[in-house]
Amino acid sequence: MSHEALENLLKEDRVFEPSLEFAAEANAQPEIYAEADADRLAFWAKQARLLHWDQDFTQVLDWSDAPFAQWFADGRLNVAYNCVDRHVESGHGDQIAIRFEGEPGDQRNITYSELLAEVSQAANALIELGITAGDRVAIYLPMIPEAIVAMLACARIGAAHSVVFAGFSAEALRSRIEDASAVLVITADGQNRRGSVMPLKPAVDEAADTSPTVRNVLVVKRTGQEVEWNTDRDIWWDDIVARQEPVHVPESFPAEHPLFILYTSGTTGKPKGILHTSGGYLTQVAYTHRVAHDLKPDTDVFWCTADIGWVTGHSYIVYGPLANRATQVIYEGTPDTPDQARWWDIIERHKVTILYTAPTAIRTFMKWGDEFPQSKDLSSLRLLGSVGEPINPEAWMWYRDVIGGNACPIIDTWWQTETGGMMISPLPGITGTKPGSAMRALPGISIAVVDEEGRPVGNGGGGYLVLTEPWPGMLRGIWGDPERYKETYWSRFPGWYFAGDGAKLDTDGALWLLGRVDDVMNVSGHRISTTEVESALVSHPQVAEAAVVGAADETTGQGIVAFVILRGGITQPGGDGSALIQELRQHVAKEIGPIAKPRQIMIVPELPKTRSGKIMRRLLRDVAEHRDLGDSTTLADPNVMNLIGAKMETAPPED
Ligand code: WTA
Repeated sequence: MSHEALENLLKEDRVFEPSLEFAAEANAQPEIYAEADADRLAFWAKQARLLHWDQDFTQVLDWSDAPFAQWFADGRLNVAYNCVDRHVESGHGDQIAIRFEGEPGDQRNITYSELLAEVSQAANALIELGITAGDRVAIYLPMIPEAIVAMLACARIGAAHSVVFAGFSAEALRSRIEDASAVLVITADGQNRRGSVMPLKPAVDEAADTSPTVRNVLVVKRTGQEVEWNTDRDIWWDDIVARQEPVHVPESFPAEHPLFILYTSGTTGKPKGILHTSGGYLTQVAYTHRVAHDLKPDTDVFWCTADIGWVTGHSYIVYGPLANRATQVIYEGTPDTPDQARWWDIIERHKVTILYTAPTAIRTFMKWGDEFPQSKDLSSLRLLGSVGEPINPEAWMWYRDVIGGNACPIIDTWWQTETGGMMISPLPGITGTKPGSAMRALPGISIAVVDEEGRPVGNGGGGYLVLTEPWPGMLRGIWGDPERYKETYWSRFPGWYFAGDGAKLDTDGALWLLGRVDDVMNVSGHRISTTEVESALVSHPQVAEAAVVGAADETTGQGIVAFVILRGGITQPGGDGSALIQELRQHVAKEIGPIAKPRQIMIVPELPKTRSGKIMRRLLRDVAEHRDLGDSTTLADPNVMNLIGAKMETAPPED
């Protein structure tokens, strides 16, 4: 599409209505909104009862101890049973659950019967290792089937998993193990990334050596590379899992039994352990996957490209799709291995029908060029989804046009680690969509956009996004820190959940997300706190002070820009400073992980601060985005910005 054609399309503020064929077959029909509005709790109870309960619940929601919610509290269920056994028992044991493709090209199809046997064996292995209900198990694995098996095995025996993204550093892993007092770590020898074999176990060794709670490390053999071995602690997955009975009788747990902890960045240096429980969470992810992804278990091939290290992998690879008996593709590697058509090749060969991915990926593919998707047959696709950050209208149109062949509805889905599942999204057979808008709250979900004082802004207005009623998949707290839970989410607008996102409603009432309003950056759809990166920088011996901002970035949404003051009043490090800057970037990668490496580091003589000593990040963002400086009259030293601005103009950006 030419630039001009795109402009015209967007100018018209065009609404893309679902096709009649799609609408007729859609899982959700228009009455669903009225049904949910008429009796919200009855609506959720109905969604919950699509799961298998060993004991039915009598109360839907207990909100008497708000903001601590209990959903379906006296009901009992087993999450793994709902995701696996139930489908085998209903006669679908031969259906493929997972179509795994490794980066080197190895493939493995796993049916629901096979998944049941493996999850049962893994559950028995965990029991042999002394894991009991209520324990915490850290999982640090690449995108291989064992990651899913490990999560389900924990769920099956009532142990809470804490999955740590395999791109995080040893230190990030260690602090998460410590916070949750994890007793077991499940990892692999290594993983395949961009055609090479990358080690994983050394980071676990480093973390486990200094984590007194860890009794064992269970190691999946993925790459076959050499690993250090601690015979008192380490066990090969193949040794202990394969010799177990492939049968395990699932126990039922109360609906509010912890299912998992997942750490996410907040506005302080310490990540928050977001706690999710069983019945409400599973209800919401299964429901949203059914109505928004419109899964047809007998015919669809679903592909969510997230990593299980993030909440999208938990909710829309493991729990939602498996609860709904999906057949899904799991891909281990990077999108440009062996070439930039890898994803499209996967879609062609596996005949993927539903694709769920992130705007940063879409923008990267746009940059690589249309010839890659056009070299493959993508006609199996019937629905496209987006998640993780605002999708700009240009990327939305490209996704629709080049990937979806103008024939697939797009769902732009807003939600968070904390919300457990989708909250705002079009329903693909019902909602007309505008490129770049997440449109409206899902049935059963209540939201508002409010001003500073908490007054709804109404159509045509902008402000803060709040969630005005509890929902089943909501976080139940921050692990070990109930005060921080109340303070972070429930104190800004009493009675309402404050999401930390800005939003506007257009004159038609469609909702547009405007990005974070706090000190959390969104880089390639990953949340990273400015304070976390600042702490990592100041832990380097040569750094006295650091300020970090997220600056607009064409591909990644935001890029990390750091302003650093060196110790000892040095304003010009030796040479041109580039060696030190590289070292600082590596240092951040070591402290947090490569995703947190600053795009650009500026060595500056001073930072802009208010008289009370607070860093004015807004001004630094103006500099980083090459804007005229905003109001700087509250600065303690108004000259500082001239010094920083001059630096910025002469410094070349990093690779
Ligand atoms: C952002 C990811 C705009 C938002 C599921 C939110 C989005 C944060 C969208 C949560 C979207 C997520 N449009 N922004 N469709 N989806 N976000 O916890 O800022 O990794 O607060 O959960 O991502 O990120 P998280």
